[in-house]
Amino acid sequence: MSELKGLILSGGAGTRLRPITHTSAKQLVPVANKPVLFYGIEALVEAGITRIGIVIAPGTGDEIREAVGDGSVFGAEVTYIVQPKPAGLAHAVLTAEDFLGGSSFVMYLGDNLLRDGIADIVEAFEAERPDASIMLTPVPDPSSYGVAELEGERVVRLVEKPEDPPSNLALVGVYLFSPKIVEAARQLEPSRRGELEITEAIQSLVDSGGDVRSRIVGGWWKDTGRLDDMLEANRLVLDEIKPSNEGHCEDSKLEGRVVLEEGAVIRRSLIRGPVVIGRDAVIEDSYIGPYTSLGDRVEVRRSEIEHSIVLADSVVEDLPSRLEASLLGRRVRVTKSDGPARTLKMLVGDRSEIEII
Ligand code: TTP
Repeated sequence: MSELKGLILSGGAGTRLRPITHTSAKQLVPVANKPVLFYGIEALVEAGITRIGIVIAPGTGDEIREAVGDGSVFGAEVTYIVQPKPAGLAHAVLTAEDFLGGSSFVMYLGDNLLRDGIADIVEAFEAERPDASIMLTPVPDPSSYGVAELEGERVVRLVEKPEDPPSNLALVGVYLFSPKIVEAARQLEPSRRGELEITEAIQSLVDSGGDVRSRIVGGWWKDTGRLDDMLEANRLVLDEIKPSNEGHCEDSKLEGRVVLEEGAVIRRSLIRGPVVIGRDAVIEDSYIGPYTSLGDRVEVRRSEIEHSIVLADSVVEDLPSRLEASLLGRRVRVTKSDGPARTLKMLVGDRSEIEII
């Protein structure tokens, strides 16, 4: 077991994923039918970090507590820390000060996914004991990210969304910190967007001669804060699933890698993987195409769905055209009356009702 603690940030406003985030935490949106947050908890536990604090917002926190519980199903011991308002990542660190209790820690953004986990960066941090270590990945459009300027592995400058980026290396949502970061965060003033910025806290460690290192991540990394990124994360995870069938098929064809969870029923349909279909889902007279995740008890009839995420208990019936690149919340109903057919693209919150007429 590592002596490092884990701090997962699962508060925030989630404005870029409205309306899903009006009723639910974005960190609980499932990717390949598993909440994004669970991948982060698993990555920490896999790296030997089992004492985990989860920062939650007052509005969506209860749902997160309910989903994760005391952490024992993950082999972790979870403490919840309520952040009264989403005042920034460095503010979240200050809110968690009692939990951190002077330990070094890994800070993990609860809406981020990393294919290859964090075990090696944790190992390197424990061996080298720098003041901070950040994870970086090359991106084609660095102006949309926090960007690092390096000398070797050492970080010399961090800039948030630079117009003239000093490199193409963006900050990934995982950071390793010695307790010095808490002191640095305490000195911060709110930024132009009114938040206490973790990049500024790290920059002040650099400016005061601190040892701030970096590591380039091996596999892919996704921040799932926007719809397209959420769908892309779903695609990346589904690309590596192993097929399994605990469901029931009648007069149907399963092609490629398909996971049918227990009790799922497929009738007179074509399922072309990679696809995950949740427990007790019912698919009839339909086509479910690649990169689709359907949640538990979802019902699809006489419709075509591709490259989409549909959350539990939603119903899709009689669509005149293919539903594509969409995210439907829980208990959504999409149905059709008579009328002309067009392409459909949607981001739909929980309990919505849509009828195409
Ligand atoms: P962001 O995605 O940067 O911020 P946000 O969740 O407020 O979303 P948006 O920009 O769409 O409004 O946050 C990254 C992660 O950190 C995410 O899991 C939420 C969490 N977070 C906190 O826990 N507290 C905070 O004060 C902030 C800003 C984010």
